[in-house]
Amino acid sequence: MREIKKYLYVINYPTFEEELCMMEMRVLFGREPEDKVLISGRKFDPSNSVFIKKRLDVIYEKDSLEEILTDLEADRIRLDDFKAEYLRLQKGNVSYEERLRSIKEIGLRIIGESSMTHPKTILGITKYNGKWLLGINVNNDFGWKLHENKPCSYSNSLSVRTARAVVNIASIGKLETKVIDPCCGVGTTIVEGLSMGYNISGCEINTKIAEDANENLKYYNLETKVVNKDMHEIEEYYDASIIDIPYGLFSHTTEKVQQDIINTARRISKKMIMVSFEDLDELILGAGFKIVDRCTVTKGKFKRYILICE
Ligand SMILES: C[S@@+](CC[C@H](N)C(=O)[O-])C[C@H]1O[C@@H](n2cnc3c(N)ncnc32)[C@H](O)[C@@H]1O
Repeated sequence: MREIKKYLYVINYPTFEEELCMMEMRVLFGREPEDKVLISGRKFDPSNSVFIKKRLDVIYEKDSLEEILTDLEADRIRLDDFKAEYLRLQKGNVSYEERLRSIKEIGLRIIGESSMTHPKTILGITKYNGKWLLGINVNNDFGWKLHENKPCSYSNSLSVRTARAVVNIASIGKLETKVIDPCCGVGTTIVEGLSMGYNISGCEINTKIAEDANENLKYYNLETKVVNKDMHEIEEYYDASIIDIPYGLFSHTTEKVQQDIINTARRISKKMIMVSFEDLDELILGAGFKIVDRCTVTKGKFKRYILICE
């Protein structure tokens, strides 16, 4: 098989998460998708983002389908249990007949048996911005949906979707980034981070909640990386911290408590991803952080602010 030329990502999001999706894409790929498509030289596992539906590893790019078919015929590719699929993109104006013809003609040029039900390789063909693209299709496996029913969960826990995005943003999609969630509650971000292979750990002041967090981690066969202690005692330094800050809505948190937490985040991390229900800009700036990006996620009557602070 020829070399991969680039990656085409198919993106989708509910309207209320559009800003969060865009922030994740800016951080991971340095730009936002257009018409729910993003092309990049960066290889990223689609299952690690709740917003990436699939990735097409583009191998052939031509002005016409016929040119792709000619190349494919010349390459004499042998694949067992393959399937060819047309990727329908928002702006694609390819007729149903043409889409059907494309997958049939590709199938005819592959040497080997096809499998519609259990394919080992999915070939993806599509037309985007006037070019025909053919490559290997990698789908999001949606395995993270299993984390939606944790043994221990609280009403103020982050959603799996938000937690996953926040961890990607904190680590910039790099597994080696050293991340801490020092007020991690039942460990929502830790479950997501560790299951994606990130270098993340947690800290929680409340003994029962810390135990619950580790029970959640055990349940998913993940390392129990939540320690029961006050974040103000942390001495290690991290590339990034995730602060889902305690708020007055659910607890008796004062502004002083919040300022102390942000000050400690400044002391222990190079960068902070702040998740809050209220505008905390003054406290963040007061701790010596610069706010470099921001978005909101609004669901029902709740509006969450997500800020990247350096
Ligand atoms: C908003 S909740 C975090 C929820 C979490 N993101 C989740 O999904 O479960 C804030 C947590 O911070 C913890 N906390 C408050 N002060 C702390 C401190 N000084 N050190 C460590 N944890 C603290 C609280 O016990 C609470 O569980």
